[in-house]
Amino acid sequence: MTIQRVMVIGAGQMGGGIAQVCAQAGYDVLLNDIKEESYEKGLAVISKNLSRNVEKGRMSEDEKTGVLGRITKSLDLQDAKNADIVIEAAVENMEVKRSIFAKLDEIAPDHAILASNTSSLPITEIAAATNRPEKVIGMHFMNPVPVMKLVEIIRGLATDNDVYEAVETMTKKLSKVPVEVNDFPGFVANRILMPMINEAIYTVYEGVATKEAIDEVMKLGMNHPMGPLQLADFIGLDTCLYIMETLHEGFGDSKYRPCPLLRKYVKAGWLGKKTGRGFYQY
Ligand code: CAA
Ligand code: NAD
Repeated sequence: MTIQRVMVIGAGQMGGGIAQVCAQAGYDVLLNDIKEESYEKGLAVISKNLSRNVEKGRMSEDEKTGVLGRITKSLDLQDAKNADIVIEAAVENMEVKRSIFAKLDEIAPDHAILASNTSSLPITEIAAATNRPEKVIGMHFMNPVPVMKLVEIIRGLATDNDVYEAVETMTKKLSKVPVEVNDFPGFVANRILMPMINEAIYTVYEGVATKEAIDEVMKLGMNHPMGPLQLADFIGLDTCLYIMETLHEGFGDSKYRPCPLLRKYVKAGWLGKKTGRGFYQY
């Protein structure tokens, strides 16, 4: 199974990062978003990241131009007709993802793999929106994509072995480390990380300590590169809430209930770094 043409759906912080690392690895990339301004914002971040690589002597100006030249704008899902693999990184919402996958199934060539960068949603349920569940797979990158080494690869119930192997090979070509995990809510990364973040939010909510103190405890006490509240802002509070809801609903266990303060911030539009305000102001 040869992969050369990659389509990425969603030009937000994850989709932009995925497009960047794919183009750096030599793939031709179609970067799609429903909003032109989100595409432009995503491309500007990619360009800034590449310029930093040039300044640091890790890449030449010509290589930067080559990487940017491999990324093409797409505002229409019909562009999937030329893709060998589509990696979806739109919002963490099952209805949105199922609708995108149902459309992609009609548009993409028969051989195309349909992958989702979902943080927590069951791959099997996303795959069931298509007539090719054997070609649907989870490819979960970590944020920030250009820096973080891990990609969790998640097989749905029907995912073919060749599809798994093609995605594993592609992940290695992106200089990432694939780790196979099973299709359970939150997979491994967010089943462990997100309850810690949610607990940190409860700790602010209950007045146990200030947000700064909580972050300091986890940074200095546990050697985490970012405190959990800073990390929540970095991930996006909407994404954190969606993930907690998936864990809560998926396991039916009250230990995963999202903190009311997290809900309140999301309702206020305080989504973290991407909107300029979350637990902190940016
Ligand atoms: N995009 C691209 N590159 C970035 C970046 C970004 N957003 N942020 C930082 N970098 C690069 C910097 O350019 C720098 O590179 P060089 O040293 O090679 O120039 C390098 O990363 C280190 O950056 P800084 O020195 O500025 O800052 P730092 O040492 O504090 O590192 C960090 C920044 C890598 C983000 C670090 O704070 C960190 O690892 N934080 C935790 C990240 C994390 O936990 N990610 C997982 C989130 S959960 C997830 O992704 C799954 C999910 O489904 C929600
Ligand atoms: P984001 O809000 O930064 O970006 C989402 C982008 O998708 C936006 O630009 C939006 O315009 C676009 N979009 C929405 N609906 C679309 C559609 N129907 N078609 C095309 N584009 C559409 O979100 P993000 O943080 O990049 O997260 C994207 C996905 O990646 C989510 O599923 C999330 O759970 C997952 N993820 C996020 C992180 C993280 O740390 N933020 C880490 C790993 C995985």
